[in-house]
Amino acid sequence: TDVFLNGQFLPLAEANVSVLDRGFLFADGVYEVIPAYGGKLFRLQQHLDRLNSSLAAIRMKPVMSDQQWTKTLSQLVSPHTQSDQSVYVQVTRGAGTNRDHQLPTEYSATTFAMCQTIDPKSLDSIANGINAITLDDIRWDWCHIKSVALLGNILLKQQASDQGCTEAILLRDGFATEGSASNLFIVKDQQLITPPKSHHLLPGITRDLVLELAIKEGISCIEQEISEQQLFDADEIWLTSSTKEIMPVVKLNRQAVGNGQPGNLWQQVSTSYSQFKN
Ligand code: PDD
Repeated sequence: TDVFLNGQFLPLAEANVSVLDRGFLFADGVYEVIPAYGGKLFRLQQHLDRLNSSLAAIRMKPVMSDQQWTKTLSQLVSPHTQSDQSVYVQVTRGAGTNRDHQLPTEYSATTFAMCQTIDPKSLDSIANGINAITLDDIRWDWCHIKSVALLGNILLKQQASDQGCTEAILLRDGFATEGSASNLFIVKDQQLITPPKSHHLLPGITRDLVLELAIKEGISCIEQEISEQQLFDADEIWLTSSTKEIMPVVKLNRQAVGNGQPGNLWQQVSTSYSQFKN
């Protein structure tokens, strides 16, 4: 199957990037992951808006117009009407003539996109609930940028995995901010709580939609910092992302969350999410 690189569709094996690409040398780039259900891109505009704010935050200009992106990404997913896909988009500051920390005054961005199948069975198994551990957030202070510099995230994820857990919930200054690749929600006494947007978490597209749907369901929602203690006292814990949707956490640091089963509000909001998708 074809991928998109710098204005062209071509076979994966023929898609090459220079070893001097600043994405390769410095992780000087940003990315997006956009779900596509039955060949239709989901919440595309929100993802394009976030891509452009990530680019602006690293001092890059938009590489294509929203119309061009829509056309390109639609073409990528169009053969996949029978499966769910995640579309990966990466934009870097391109290749210089040598390795130099200084930002180039002129550059030609590297623009890449490909799709991957989302395994429906993995979403089914997530619905049984996942295990998570808390870890100190070792990442930098600009987590609102969807940067390709994911070394912190992947090392945290691996620490979780080493302990038989699917995700790490990250703590910064005594507050739980987000997962290593997901946003955080808790339920306490029928109220849904998620941390407010800040430089310490990614403004998740799924996060925004979950809030929207929960409000529509008549659930009381607040955006408020979540202390470590509140996390341990929660009735329900959810982690959200574009590819994993809403994951109910049933064990935190080996202890049952609530009654150790996915909770009632999770059931209600994830049903609403599935209906909204289709
Ligand atoms: N990650 N926080 C972090 C650190 C993330 O990496 C992600 C998503 C999210 C959730 O954002 P959204 O709902 O917009 O997907 C929050 C993607 C899926 C990834 O890196 O593959």
